[in-house]
Amino acid sequence: MNSEILIAITGGIAAYKTCDLVRNLVKLGFPVRVIMTHNATQFIHKNTFEALTNKPVFVNEYDSIMAHIEMKNLAKIFVIAPATANIIGKMANGIADDLVSSTYLACTVPVLVAPAMNPGMYANKAVQRNIQQLKEDGVIILEPVEGIVVCGDEGKGKMVDVEVIQKKIIELYETV
Ligand SMILES: Cc1cc2nc3c(=O)[nH]c(=O)nc-3n(C[C@H](O)[C@H](O)[C@H](O)COP(=O)(O)O)c2cc1C
Repeated sequence: MNSEILIAITGGIAAYKTCDLVRNLVKLGFPVRVIMTHNATQFIHKNTFEALTNKPVFVNEYDSIMAHIEMKNLAKIFVIAPATANIIGKMANGIADDLVSSTYLACTVPVLVAPAMNPGMYANKAVQRNIQQLKEDGVIILEPVEGIVVCGDEGKGKMVDVEVIQKKIIELYETV
């Protein structure tokens, strides 16, 4: 119980970077389990993460008898990377309409969120309000960085480097 690094992937371009994150953690010997939103599977197929972790990847709440409870019971820490504006909004408002959001509500372990989105989306007042709410709820936010995003816009919104997320995950995993 509660011994794994549970990583949720949501539907943003930066999902491809999480392949490296998962691969690195597995290579270092950490127990990693992945869950995904339906929208995340538009970017990366779950087979990739199943191969990287050698474990099943749940996407549906109904992939197991009570998938969200099963996931919260195995998580020592819960990481959401990349985190879309959508999942951040749902987490901040207690909405549980898919496996990732239901697992978040069920989890009592430390939660790490790495937002990634268009700079305009990130600067939006609603998104900023939701991020502030998550901080007040005790969620650790790894702030995105400035740069040119895939669509060509420039500003703060790129997911922080995988190395930074990895370092924070290991630090947290070894202290809780
Ligand atoms: C090509 C493409 C790229 C996208 N990239 C992002 C992104 O980086 N961040 C984000 O918040 N939403 C992004 N979106 C929008 C999300 O996919 C959309 O809000 C979706 O509902 C998120 O669902 P999820 O949070 O359940 O994964 C993108 C959409 C498309 C079509």
